[in-house]
Amino acid sequence: MKHLDLPGGGRMPVLGFGTWQLRGPDCARAVTLAIAAGYRHIDTAEMYGNEAEVGDAIAAAGVGRADLFVTTKIWPDHFHAKEARRAAEASLGKLKLDHVDLLLMHWPSDSVPLAETLGEMSRLLEEGKTRAIGVSNFDADRLAQAIQASPAPIACNQVKFHVGAPQDALLAFCRPKGIAVTAYSPLGKGGLGKDPTLEAIGKKYGKSAVQVALRWLIEQDGVSAVPKASSERNLRANLDIFDFSLDADDRARIGRL
Ligand SMILES: NC(=O)c1ccc[n+]([C@@H]2O[C@H](COP(=O)([O-])OP(=O)(O)OC[C@H]3O[C@@H](n4cnc5c(N)ncnc54)[C@H](OP(=O)(O)O)[C@@H]3O)[C@@H](O)[C@H]2O)c1
Repeated sequence: MKHLDLPGGGRMPVLGFGTWQLRGPDCARAVTLAIAAGYRHIDTAEMYGNEAEVGDAIAAAGVGRADLFVTTKIWPDHFHAKEARRAAEASLGKLKLDHVDLLLMHWPSDSVPLAETLGEMSRLLEEGKTRAIGVSNFDADRLAQAIQASPAPIACNQVKFHVGAPQDALLAFCRPKGIAVTAYSPLGKGGLGKDPTLEAIGKKYGKSAVQVALRWLIEQDGVSAVPKASSERNLRANLDIFDFSLDADDRARIGRL
């Protein structure tokens, strides 16, 4: 598995497992299957209401903590310093971990100054409760403000990013700074699975449209992706993208979608 080196240290596997909308036993089952299949990067959030089940699956998996990369996110209702701390510590409790690898602000908010939230997240980082901090759903302007406001380096911005919804401006901003861009909804919520152009490209390599869509993302410098899947078949297929490469013609065709 390829990794991204994050500002401030830490290495993020370029392919992670998304858990939004996975709940209860279905979530624990899917995360268990994902770790068994080889995923070492799990994406959750306090808002997903599934951190306890993600934690159960991690605890049962028997994979060394150092080999797992776990991301969670603070919801904007909890951006005041005390609330951010309480939310992060509650997430750790549910996950049954003493630290996460990446703690993100889930969405931008105009209600609380960035310096207050990122200041507290930086303290959590100093205390070892997270290994890196970052943001989600920030455009380049907001990200520039976050960088200014944060005592600790911003390691990642997680945004909606998939074939047909590129992030060229954000990537141009992030790459020179080494900030990872993590693609959420990388399969267009599953819709890209039926795209005829991706299907045609995939045929050349014995791959599906979804696998081409994921490959297109992780071939880009500084990009990781966190597809969600419920079935073992789908989650295994999404991991099976490291034995082929897209060529310039493929990329040009995908760029026109
Ligand atoms: N930061 C944020 O604000 C934010 C927002 C949205 C999402 N996210 C993160 O990003 C993750 C992924 O995004 P997402 O859940 O919106 O959508 P997604 O990963 O783009 O798509 C998930 C859908 O694709 C289907 N799928 C998965 N693998 C497939 C395959 N190999 N072939 C065909 N269909 C397949 C899934 O079906 P099955 O479930 O039936 O397998 C599911 O319906 C989330 O789970 C979450 O962790 C973050």
